[in-house]
Amino acid sequence: MADTPTLEAIVSLCKRRGFVFQASEIYGGLAGFYDYGPLGVELVNNIKQEWWRAMVREHDNIFGVDGAIIQNPKLWEASGHVAGFTDPMVEDLVTHKRYRADHLANTDSTDLAELKELLKDMKSPDGNALSEPRVFNMMMETFIGPVGKGDDAAAVQFIDSSFFETEEGKAFSVRIFEKTQLAYLRPETAGSIFTNYDNVRETMRAKLPFGVAQIGKAFRNEISPRDFIFRVRELEQMEMQYFIPPADQEEVYQRWRDFAWDFLFNRLGIAESNLQWHEHDEKERAHYAAAAHDIYFNFPQGFKELWGTHNRTDFDLSNHARVSGKDLSYFEESTRERFIPYVIESSVGVGRMLMAVLTDAYHEEEVNGEQRVVLKLKPSIAPYRVAVSPLLKNKPELVAKAREVYSMLKKEFGNVMWDDNSNIGKRYRRQDEIGTPYCVVIDFDTLEGDTANTVTVRDRDTTKQTRIVISELIESLKD
Ligand code: GAP
Repeated sequence: MADTPTLEAIVSLCKRRGFVFQASEIYGGLAGFYDYGPLGVELVNNIKQEWWRAMVREHDNIFGVDGAIIQNPKLWEASGHVAGFTDPMVEDLVTHKRYRADHLANTDSTDLAELKELLKDMKSPDGNALSEPRVFNMMMETFIGPVGKGDDAAAVQFIDSSFFETEEGKAFSVRIFEKTQLAYLRPETAGSIFTNYDNVRETMRAKLPFGVAQIGKAFRNEISPRDFIFRVRELEQMEMQYFIPPADQEEVYQRWRDFAWDFLFNRLGIAESNLQWHEHDEKERAHYAAAAHDIYFNFPQGFKELWGTHNRTDFDLSNHARVSGKDLSYFEESTRERFIPYVIESSVGVGRMLMAVLTDAYHEEEVNGEQRVVLKLKPSIAPYRVAVSPLLKNKPELVAKAREVYSMLKKEFGNVMWDDNSNIGKRYRRQDEIGTPYCVVIDFDTLEGDTANTVTVRDRDTTKQTRIVISELIESLKD
């Protein structure tokens, strides 16, 4: 296993090469919020596409949805998030900075009595006395309807326009008013999967077992966002809920655990030595889970949670059935039994996956007496598949030929970069740092002699250079 890079090295690369920027950086940033730059968005899109392909396209019985971020607040009451989506918090009694109590105590337990005992002689990171631990709800609140200064929740607010036609065919609109309503930004994407369980079952004529998958944003008022994009307040999740007969829970739970490991290793190319299992004990499990196994990744700050597989039993569907009054039971024809399906959940954060991929791929090494940083990304997820360069940018004949090759490759692969800045050595270093697997260089040998119509292809990992005939270039790069 290569040495794990420091957090500073990853943050610096992300900024330097346009993977991740602080959100609203020119205003001093905002804790827990990040923007993806040109390289980051390409890498993240490739990761999401790979997950969607493995999860949805390669399964006949898994269907995608894309739910709203704001749902009827009753959803979060039924799911237990209003009452139970909490973290333990302590406050520095002088600076009033707030901290995750379990993080300060360095424990996985969120039990208040246990934390009180562990923290009783402890000071805050600034050396001051701490408050007693108490629970803090992490749901982000918002109001539906415009809220003016001094308005209270009972104020009457405009919520929508509806368009009607007069008998003469003239359009007019009616503005609809209602009381301002407290709502939540979803804390997990799973919510709208549960509320759409019956819609998907019916429209797709699905029989158990079947799954519903979603990629989307979620929001959590984390007490102490930290470690760059590891713990943020606006995150993106890739989640899948697999609806099953209760009797299948053990076998299916194991299957989705295997899927997660296999995806990280085979589809993203993450070294197995950087992965390990962590089973939640009772004190650590979320309020909805009867069993939970995380895959931990070897992040710069140590082995931490990357991907969770949870047995959510019939907790969610039973509660949604109870609160909404809609029958969400399933009739199994073969056994003539009616029951509420169990759910095995697979859930991973996109940002955390990006951070794991970058950490795993990051290498500092010496090549021909020179230090280089190289991202050894799996070619299928690299932001750019290949970079094309003319050896010299002030030689029109080289540039014209290079442009020809660039257009040909761009048509085939799409994610191809044109790079004619500075000398060839610097270009290689730049492409190494962003993980481009191959650099194609058009030089004077491309234009004439025995080597006419051949190019140099330089391999990112070995730095070896090979001459390849242009007509065979696409097949060769595909290989
Ligand atoms: N639906 C289940 C669920 O949300 P979770 O363990 O709270 O479970 C699932 O979150 C995954 O989402 C985590 O394994 C992690 O990858 C990611 N995640 C959770 N909170 C996060 C945060 N504050 N910042 C970044 N990623 C987060």
